[in-house]
Amino acid sequence: MVVARGAAARQAPEPAATGDAGRVPAHVAIIMDGNGRWAAARDLPRVAGHRAGAQAVRRTIEAAIRNGVTWLTLYAFSSENWRRPVSEVLDLTGLLRHYLRNEVAELARQGVRLRFIGDLSRFDPDVQADLRAAARDTAANTRLNLTIALSYGARAEIVEAARRIAAAARSGTLDPAGLDEAAFGAMLTTDGIPDPDLVLRTSGEQRLSNFLLWQAAYAELLFLDVLWPDFAEQHFVAALEQFARRERRFGARPG
Ligand code: FPP
Repeated sequence: MVVARGAAARQAPEPAATGDAGRVPAHVAIIMDGNGRWAAARDLPRVAGHRAGAQAVRRTIEAAIRNGVTWLTLYAFSSENWRRPVSEVLDLTGLLRHYLRNEVAELARQGVRLRFIGDLSRFDPDVQADLRAAARDTAANTRLNLTIALSYGARAEIVEAARRIAAAARSGTLDPAGLDEAAFGAMLTTDGIPDPDLVLRTSGEQRLSNFLLWQAAYAELLFLDVLWPDFAEQHFVAALEQFARRERRFGARPG
């Protein structure tokens, strides 16, 4: 199978694109949902669902590598998640701290490059330092580009880009007439990351929940009836197969 043509382009692909049938999506983005329900179904505390979710993250990274996906973005913590009970926020940030301290070396060994998007300033300074170190120490890797969205919200990201653009226009370094989609996209935290070809959400919910709203403009969407902690390679492969069967036209109609 070949990597999707045009998928590595950061902006909307050329309108003449005729589809990705039989192709592997270059970039898969996942809304990992259902940890709480998984735990509740087992009469376990929610943190047990998040821990099992972290195992699913490991499986998914390996599945992406095995199946030729080169960009993977995972929505691990939304800007709205800060509003959860303090104990759950502490569990989630604790899990993140543990993950960064214990798993980055193995990810680096597997050839994974880590990036983080979102308002990282809201995390404790030690977590911020670990995030910076993980990104720096894996920056030369090319096998899988893994982006983890943390304290991320697409609307806030777009507003921040607009604010920077307005400031540049006011200071005279940017001509508003020259602002196009590529220039706007370059102001987002995902600058340098291709747009997702496929956005998956687990747990049966059918929402984007403020995830990559700009970047997912042309993505195929797939909502899976599996809770995130149960997500396994078979689900990943089935999602890739569904993607391969879809015809992507990017708004155009083949002549
Ligand atoms: C959504 O399930 C999941 C989250 C809010 C957290 C995602 C975190 C992980 C998968 C584990 C940690 C990841 C890393 C990278 C260390 P939910 O709690 O909203 O589930 P529910 O909708 O069933 O209540």
